[in-house]
Amino acid sequence: MKICMIGAGYVGLVSAACFSDFGWTVNCVDNDPSRLAALKAGQSPIYEPGLEALMERNVKAGRLVFTDDLKTSVANADVVFLAVGTPMRRGDGYADLSYVFSAVEETAQYLDGFTVITTKSTVPVGTSREIERRLKAKRPDADVAVCSNPEFLREGSAIQDFTHPDRVLVGTDDPRARDVMERLYKPLALRGSPVMFVERESAELAKYAANAFLALKISFINEIADVCEAVGADVQEVASAIGRDRRIGDKFLHPGPGYGGSCFPKDVSALVRTAREARAPVSIIEQVERVNHERKLAMAVRIEAAAGGSVRGKTVAILGVTFKPNTDDMRDAPSLLIVPMLQERGATVRACDPQGRKQAEPMLPGVTWCESADEAATGADVLVIVTEWNEYRALNLEAIKSRMSGSTIVDLRNVLDPAAVRELGIAYTGIGRGRHTASQKSG
Ligand code: UDX
Repeated sequence: MKICMIGAGYVGLVSAACFSDFGWTVNCVDNDPSRLAALKAGQSPIYEPGLEALMERNVKAGRLVFTDDLKTSVANADVVFLAVGTPMRRGDGYADLSYVFSAVEETAQYLDGFTVITTKSTVPVGTSREIERRLKAKRPDADVAVCSNPEFLREGSAIQDFTHPDRVLVGTDDPRARDVMERLYKPLALRGSPVMFVERESAELAKYAANAFLALKISFINEIADVCEAVGADVQEVASAIGRDRRIGDKFLHPGPGYGGSCFPKDVSALVRTAREARAPVSIIEQVERVNHERKLAMAVRIEAAAGGSVRGKTVAILGVTFKPNTDDMRDAPSLLIVPMLQERGATVRACDPQGRKQAEPMLPGVTWCESADEAATGADVLVIVTEWNEYRALNLEAIKSRMSGSTIVDLRNVLDPAAVRELGIAYTGIGRGRHTASQKSG
């Protein structure tokens, strides 16, 4: 099986590496010369655990090739994946499909023999049909079938998610395309992952519905956390109690500073607009978008309250700036709203992040960057955990306290043990932790 993967971004690169590891031959095409040069040198442009090793193994075996030669790659391919970016368009919140359509226009010229073309990036409902229309218009003679095959992988665990998916979803009504896709995913089917064939529109919408539902679940538990604080309940206990109900499930019930990343904000917004356009408005999902934005801002207010009502003239240490751990991705990270708001209100911000600094530095001007939590804590009045990197779960709090000039910790991810923090004479503020949510120094 020969695959052409167009786009070596997150989804494209991980998919290309994993498909080649199944034994398929993959040409991964990208038109960004610096990205391509890095890939050819064996460097992944993104931080993803295990990815470079997987790339190296398959490049060595000759199954994974990085190239800008779209012509040969398309002409030889059984399946062409479109994995180019679909960023949110500035101003109107719609998905920007210009990269998808220009890849389609170019691909059309080189098609040779029966070829399955499939979207891998998240695209609005109806895009596969539109791609087919454009292909047929440009190459009426071409023998193609256009599928939708959305990817559900998470950053930070992308390889595990790709190779052990809860399901593989393929939208197609073409029997030949179904055969090809069945063959392609056989290695996963043999391991027990169901490969589902559905209508193209169903596959496209399912991706948005899944992300919107998960975003809703996070916003829901964040609201329950606020209620917990008001009534003295502990959100961890509530989440674990409701999570045992299999109809609810125990995943995605961690309260925090609001969701970020490359998918949830963009997809929730795109679904709201698609629904509006189709005259099927979605008021709950619309609220999720608003509630999540306000959640991030509310975290800055919470830090201010923990600092005694004002951060003016105070130093705040921020541990973790990426939208979640195990990634260097800063897209829609809560820190991007929290840090500037603290600065506006007069705080000096020191920050550290195990992987995110390079991406974050230009996005967060005025921040003093530190190599470690210890360094960030030096001279700080308040220390805030924004991203739950493992190394922040096991902080040496005594050492941290001795470096700080104040003694207040705000734990936006509930990774610390409130009682242990208090024992050291540090005031602790968590999220939805009932009587532990905001505590005074006891030592
Ligand atoms: C998400 C989807 O999980 C994935 O299926 C889809 O393909 C892409 O979008 P990703 O953005 O990589 O993946 O991250 P994910 O682990 O889902 O986390 C998204 C955001 O939600 C993060 O900001 C995270 O901190 C937040 N989150 C997640 C919570 O606040 N609480 C939770 O319980 C889970």
